[in-house]
Amino acid sequence: MRLNKYLASCGAASRRGADELILSGRVKVNSAVVTQPGTKIETDNDTVMVDGKKVVPVSKFTYIMLYKPKGCITSVRDDKGRKTVYDYIDVNVPHLVPVGRLDYDTEGLLLLTNDGDLVNRLAHPSGEVPKTYLVRAEGQFPEHILAKLRKGVEIDGVMTKRSKVKLLEQGEDGAKLTVTITEGRNRQVRRMFEAVERRVVFLKRIAIGDLRLGGLARGAWRYLHEDEVAYLKNL
Ligand code: URA
Repeated sequence: MRLNKYLASCGAASRRGADELILSGRVKVNSAVVTQPGTKIETDNDTVMVDGKKVVPVSKFTYIMLYKPKGCITSVRDDKGRKTVYDYIDVNVPHLVPVGRLDYDTEGLLLLTNDGDLVNRLAHPSGEVPKTYLVRAEGQFPEHILAKLRKGVEIDGVMTKRSKVKLLEQGEDGAKLTVTITEGRNRQVRRMFEAVERRVVFLKRIAIGDLRLGGLARGAWRYLHEDEVAYLKNL
């Protein structure tokens, strides 16, 4: 594809604007400045940068990050008339589905997309994608309890896979921890804690892989950036 057409397809500029970008030396292909607007590139192999930033074609799919609040369900509709995650997304995107689920009482990072391939890859219960939760739980967490949680506990007769557990704070009545699991079994974190006789009182997903909720406000959403989408596709 011609470089100017490619830049336009990335939303970097109009066709005319793309010519100007190229002529002014702001565009690099594979680290070399290119000043001919008609230069042919291979869209699959060449890296195109404008002002030092990589540009990629605008996606035909939509990718959204929502800070799901507690008190809503991760489903399109609810028989009991409870709020759903869609009540928080004020754009009309056809076929937008959640990637995996968070419980009614759990808050935090939820991805939604209409890219079916990505949903299938990321939401598979046996998947390896690490998901990190901030947990507040009642009780004490001495080393042997942490070790059990890390090594795996039995849920419905099946051991959970190894997880990462960090004790952030231990108070008199309870503790604050982060837990990273690579499976997505039903109510997994809560049930792991039940298995060691501890009750979760607050649960928030803060990351999926390296993708973090960051400073997004509770109940707010945003589109994923292109580099975030590329990252998820490569997980
Ligand atoms: N683990 C849980 O217990 N609940 C969730 O929503 C997610 C992970």
